[in-house]
Amino acid sequence: MEIKNVCIIGAGTMGSGIAQLIAINGYSVNIVDLSVDLLDEIKEKIEQNVDRHYVDRNKLSKEEANKILSKIHYYTNIEEAVDNVQLVIEAIYEDMNLKQVLFEKIDSICENHVILASNTSSLSITDIASKCKHQERIVGIHFFNPATVMKLVEIIKGDNTTEETLEIAKEFSKRLNKTVVIINDSPGFVTSRLIYVLCNEAINMKMEGIASTEDIDTACKLAFNFPMGPLELSDLVGLDIYNNIGEYLNDEFGDKYKPSFLLKKMVNNKQLGRKSRKGFYDY
Ligand code: NAI
Repeated sequence: MEIKNVCIIGAGTMGSGIAQLIAINGYSVNIVDLSVDLLDEIKEKIEQNVDRHYVDRNKLSKEEANKILSKIHYYTNIEEAVDNVQLVIEAIYEDMNLKQVLFEKIDSICENHVILASNTSSLSITDIASKCKHQERIVGIHFFNPATVMKLVEIIKGDNTTEETLEIAKEFSKRLNKTVVIINDSPGFVTSRLIYVLCNEAINMKMEGIASTEDIDTACKLAFNFPMGPLELSDLVGLDIYNNIGEYLNDEFGDKYKPSFLLKKMVNNKQLGRKSRKGFYDY
């Protein structure tokens, strides 16, 4: 099956990045989000981002950029947005219940050949698909932030995902110039489980006063050759996302994954990192 049109549901940090990536690679994209006001903000952000990263850096002419932007369409109505698409990528909040409800809905609306993917960074694909009739076409396609830049895509095979679905997801990701790894469904997959442990421990160190925010980040960057320190990375990903991942891993695997008290406190105070302009750093 050839993918030509893609629907992205939820266009926050990840969804809007994935939409740009897909449009830049020649596909048409329908974005769905909760309100017209939110969609206006998302559209403006996407336009500014394409200008800043492609036009200002002479990677695209203004005309080419406008052509790419014209491939992105904005909807609040899911039924309209999934009409005539071959792939749906969900990137709404990291909440199992919300994702299950959404997948049950899109599974009932979309024709059987449409592939349904989740960009979840940790939740079980098998569980997300559990209320759907056609679980064979449900798969995880885990992009990284920023989606236009990061080279890796984790493809997650749920218990009921068929080889055919996996192959389509793999081919599509390769066409976006990504390197693909295949992971059997397990909470946190490979990357989120590992990076959460590192970042959560760095947050514990910050809480214990072992070193300043800057020194924890500098130590990791220079000692391990990381491009970014764990606290800076937590701000980029979103502290709410790490808190949710930690709670989920803690439920699934046990206490060693318990989110740091400081992480929870910052999330409760709406200090979520870059998206709220306040986290371990100010933005
Ligand atoms: P976000 O909070 O920035 O964006 C979520 C968007 O979904 C918002 O615009 C919200 O209005 C929209 N939304 C919520 N419910 C909706 C619904 N029922 N229908 C349509 N739109 C809806 O979240 P973010 O960070 O983009 O994360 C999205 C997903 O991607 C999560 O599953 C997360 O775990 C995953 N992820 C996040 C990464 C990150 O660095 N932030 C990296 C890789 C994956």
